[in-house]
Amino acid sequence: MLKKTLAINDAQINVVDLGKGPPVLLVHGFPLDLNMWKSQIVEFSKTHRVICPDLAGFGLSRCREPRMQLRSHAQDLSDLLAALAVHERVVYCGLSMGGYIGWEFWKQNPERVSGMIACNTRAANDSLEVARGRRIAAKSIYQTGTLFLAQQMASRLLYSDPQEPKNTIQSDVEKTIESTSLDSIAAGQIAMSNRADAAPWLPMINCPALFIGGEYDEITTTREMSSDAALLPNAQFVEIKNAGHLTPLEQSESFNHHVLEFLNSNHF
Ligand code: MLT
Repeated sequence: MLKKTLAINDAQINVVDLGKGPPVLLVHGFPLDLNMWKSQIVEFSKTHRVICPDLAGFGLSRCREPRMQLRSHAQDLSDLLAALAVHERVVYCGLSMGGYIGWEFWKQNPERVSGMIACNTRAANDSLEVARGRRIAAKSIYQTGTLFLAQQMASRLLYSDPQEPKNTIQSDVEKTIESTSLDSIAAGQIAMSNRADAAPWLPMINCPALFIGGEYDEITTTREMSSDAALLPNAQFVEIKNAGHLTPLEQSESFNHHVLEFLNSNHF
């Protein structure tokens, strides 16, 4: 897959920029990288310009200072679009932490967003208890290491039939988490714990929006996602069957079908 590296702020951002047509920005979750979108890159680039970066500190994107605020990732994304000479409006598609960054991206550049696709994510920020848990996790990762986190997280992220052996999706996700730097994992937890509550912004996001949830997602439930979707003036919610938190990877065909339908019906 064609990738390039661009100097953005203090980072070297690794990005896939593929296809021609209306731009779609794909933003991965925590602590993953752009490979979670591999099936979407192939499918959507047939009709759209797909821009899919590794966020600073994740995947192959190196940075001097790991981002302690999600708004810094949002700023990197606007600067990346400028560096790629993307001047038209983009459809923003983010999963989980990529979705949290999406609210910040919209807040910073509402005029740059033609459509919003919120996958397995929420608008509310953390409760005090969850934020405290993240600050503890940001410290303890230096003791436990990434292998432990990889095994613990992969089973939470993915829905799997207990009778089935570990599949390649699970081992790929584990490998990605295991190879993420400790500093980026710690910074990601702190950045998520510091994030703003985007729920009050939802009624103002008046572009077409699609919310996608996984039937068995334990991290962001379909109930929470459908109530978030109801707060936007022009949003729909779809549930992907037999999927957990990583719907684009776990049920790529159904996920791609819903996204392409959304893009086509809105002439994006
Ligand atoms: C993610 O998938 O990005 C994370 O699970 C989000 C979170 O920890 O809230």
